[in-house]
Amino acid sequence: MMAREETDEPRIAIVGLGYVGLSTAACLASKFHVTGIDLDLAKIGLIGKGRAPFLEKGLQPLLEAHVRNGMLQCTTNYSAASDSDIVFITVGTPSSKSGEIDLSQVRSASQSIGEAIAGSNRPTTVVVKSTVIPGTTRSVVKPILEQSSGRTSGEGFGICSNPEFLREGQAIEDTLNPSRIVIGPIDQFSRDQVLSFYRKFYGAQMPPVVETSPETAELIKYSSNAFLATKISFINLIARMCEKIPGSDVNDVARGMGLDPRIGSLFLQAGPGFGGSCFPKDVQALVDYAKRLGVDPSILESTLKVNETQPDNVVSQAEKMLNRVDGKKIAVLGLAFNPNTDDIRESRAIPVIRKLVSKGAMVGAYDPMAMDGAKRELGPIITYSTNAKACVKGTDLVIIMTAWPEFMDLSNDELTRLMGGRVRILDARRIYDPARFPNAEFTAIGLGNPHD
Ligand SMILES: NC(=O)c1ccc[n+]([C@@H]2O[C@H](COP(=O)([O-])OP(=O)(O)OC[C@H]3O[C@@H](n4cnc5c(N)ncnc54)[C@H](O)[C@@H]3O)[C@@H](O)[C@H]2O)c1
Repeated sequence: MMAREETDEPRIAIVGLGYVGLSTAACLASKFHVTGIDLDLAKIGLIGKGRAPFLEKGLQPLLEAHVRNGMLQCTTNYSAASDSDIVFITVGTPSSKSGEIDLSQVRSASQSIGEAIAGSNRPTTVVVKSTVIPGTTRSVVKPILEQSSGRTSGEGFGICSNPEFLREGQAIEDTLNPSRIVIGPIDQFSRDQVLSFYRKFYGAQMPPVVETSPETAELIKYSSNAFLATKISFINLIARMCEKIPGSDVNDVARGMGLDPRIGSLFLQAGPGFGGSCFPKDVQALVDYAKRLGVDPSILESTLKVNETQPDNVVSQAEKMLNRVDGKKIAVLGLAFNPNTDDIRESRAIPVIRKLVSKGAMVGAYDPMAMDGAKRELGPIITYSTNAKACVKGTDLVIIMTAWPEFMDLSNDELTRLMGGRVRILDARRIYDPARFPNAEFTAIGLGNPHD
């Protein structure tokens, strides 16, 4: 095999084309040849036609362009890994039933990559981007890769931990402008190769790099998510107190706290709790990991407990507004766990809806992106509308569950007309200024009613 020249652009393979893998692939393909590998044939079929299998802001045009110009290819065949300089593992790492991390996708991807690079003498580096508990890259991925490839890491191929921090809904923006790159190389070879790759991609905009052991890199990812989740549960706990203090407002508390630079204002937005595919399972995995280390994870357990009970708090507020929800018509606006995504995984709208329905409410829902996922998850227990106005029409209460900008278009007059004169709003995301709805009975998370 001919030695590759220093100036050669690295060839990239990305294994697992979910939110992280496909967003990363679409961005990297602007500079490098990228092959995406996934086991899901239907997904590969769609991506091969330049169509995103899920909604993510900015993803579709990138995919279209890079599939068309041949910079991004996709396949179910792992042999592309043997022809790549860097192979990213971006498969899922869900929670198992007992709460610990399920590494089966990481194991199987590592096995397949190892088999693919077995016959090759190309100096490939395997980069673990999936979120995995400390020790996984060294104690799980490395032995599987070495055993299945028959090669020794550090001698002709490398292994590196490189956790991902992108946010769904902003995945493209975050991939192009990350706050930091964290790398935990197992060997010098992978360190040099990964750093050189990132320097080529980011050029003068190279983000700060934190270089550490693989175990520390893995822990940085969990600590970041657990800290952000804890900030959310903290402010939600304060919100519950505000709801019992006439005249108080959690938003003012958050603003007053956030101006302290030691605290900061981000992630102090009270709401129905955190959802998505990462925070709940990552905090749970860290709890489990701490216990195995013999460390008491009670702060993190409380973070989860506040989060699990926050949907009940939304339902209690609805009951308070309507006396009882039985037989009442309720419009839920927002089903995705965050705006700008169609992802409903762990969305707090789901338990709120289930609870309302179990109490006899007639629920209708609308979301600008997440209707398909919600229909699969909830089925016929609720009705679905094609826009916010249709959803709200003739209902007794409107609950805002996702902070979609388009919900800001609903005006006081319009709601009064659509709801037959009696407007009730429960703003679980704090998107509205209550003064906007002078005719309404208005309640929000963390708002102490002045008349209580
Ligand atoms: N979603 C996020 O916002 C986010 C952010 C940062 C980090 N992460 C982490 O990144 C990882 C991926 O997350 P995601 O949300 O993109 O997951 P996902 O579930 O959306 O996608 C995983 C993909 O991997 C594929 N896959 C599974 N096993 C495979 C195998 N053996 N070979 C090839 N493909 C395989 C699946 O078909 C799927 O397309 C997780 O560890 C997650 O914790 C996610």
